[in-house]
Amino acid sequence: MARRSRAGNGDTSAAPSSEASNKARSRAGNGAAHDDPAVPGDVRDLSLAREGRMRIEWSDRHMPVLRAIRARFEKERPLKGLRIAACLHVTTETANLARTLQAGGARVFLCGSNPLSTQDDVAAALVASYGISTYAIKGEDHKTYYSHIVSCIEAEPHVTMDDGCDLVTVLHTKKKDHLSGVIAGTEETSTGVTRLRAMAASRVLRYPVIAINDADTKHLFDNRYGTGQSTMDGVLRCTNMLVAGSTVVIAGYGWCGRGLAARAKGMGATVVVTEIDPLRALEARMDGHQVVAMSDAAPHGDLFITVTGNKAVLRREHFLAMKEGAIVANSGHFNVEIDIPALERLADGKRQVRPFVEEYKLKGGKRLYLLGEGRLINLAAAEGHPAMVMDMSFANQALSVEYLRKKGRSLAKDVHSVPADIDREVARLKLKSMGIEIDSPTSDQERYMQTWSEGT
Ligand code: ADE
Repeated sequence: MARRSRAGNGDTSAAPSSEASNKARSRAGNGAAHDDPAVPGDVRDLSLAREGRMRIEWSDRHMPVLRAIRARFEKERPLKGLRIAACLHVTTETANLARTLQAGGARVFLCGSNPLSTQDDVAAALVASYGISTYAIKGEDHKTYYSHIVSCIEAEPHVTMDDGCDLVTVLHTKKKDHLSGVIAGTEETSTGVTRLRAMAASRVLRYPVIAINDADTKHLFDNRYGTGQSTMDGVLRCTNMLVAGSTVVIAGYGWCGRGLAARAKGMGATVVVTEIDPLRALEARMDGHQVVAMSDAAPHGDLFITVTGNKAVLRREHFLAMKEGAIVANSGHFNVEIDIPALERLADGKRQVRPFVEEYKLKGGKRLYLLGEGRLINLAAAEGHPAMVMDMSFANQALSVEYLRKKGRSLAKDVHSVPADIDREVARLKLKSMGIEIDSPTSDQERYMQTWSEGT
């Protein structure tokens, strides 16, 4: 296992783990340092731990469901002895999930699920304040990104927790020798679930995985309200553009696209949706948006955002048709939705004009602006989904791991749903935390719903 720690200046030189943790302890401040003498990890700067801890605590205030689960886990220790390799966006919300799993008795090994989504202060606090092995650095290169995944796999996990299926893919290809101890896994996002289904269809998936994304208390809230708000947040933080009066072209009308279109419309944009699925296109039209092919949208958009899960959705012919100054961004999981190599080929030169804003000067003089290197803009330029919504997604994660501990060995090597009672329980706990009471059916109503003889 990699046992490196980065010095405060971002120096990557190797350091023994005890030294790493000593550094962590001396820099964490406020007496909150973790007392495990050996917390392996690779983070940018342990001196950021205090700031990270404060932000983790702030987000915890907005995660009441996860807090309730953590309190129970502390008492019951249902994950005692379990090793979990988690490849997730390293954010304040993820930190609170990791703390919850740790409270249940698990050892968590965390790496980032995107090279640009890590919050370095959070990674530092996880190592220094919470004693959670974390391998993640914002802006890490491709090689480091994969070496961090390998570090987590080499911890010999019983359970994997993925967001995009990169960890599972490495485990099933380059690191097959570490498969035998894995009981089961979870997958956070729709892109990851698509990849897992392809693996299951090809009969290469070697253990059962729960598709967290497909829980109602995940995609109906995280994808819709989380992506909707955090994507606009990312775009606004890096451009400071006025949305009112602009034309926003949204590629994809899944739950993320629906949420994003609603937010952009609410901010005064004219929303244009592009789709390849006729049902979704119809829904977008009936929700009040314009629906056209991308080739027709390209000349009109001020801002283009891809959220499709597919590749090359914005490509050469679209860049050529776009108007001067058009802004392009992606909020889908991978940075393949915008064909960046095609944009590079069309350009005479590029320069960074603001943080996370790259100006491409096309032959002929037109300028286009690419945000966040085409990586998910809500996490690259902002903080990802707010804690209030991640509360439900990560409650599903924690409860699903508890379920897998009990039942994982009896499940088929396939992609499974979050058990319905977990989904309901998360909704019930969320409502309770919001102080909302709902009706229960009367016994007469319950009986009525089970009969067929009463009609007109
Ligand atoms: N995915 C989107 N937003 C996130 C967040 N805040 N934390 C972890 N994963 C996320």
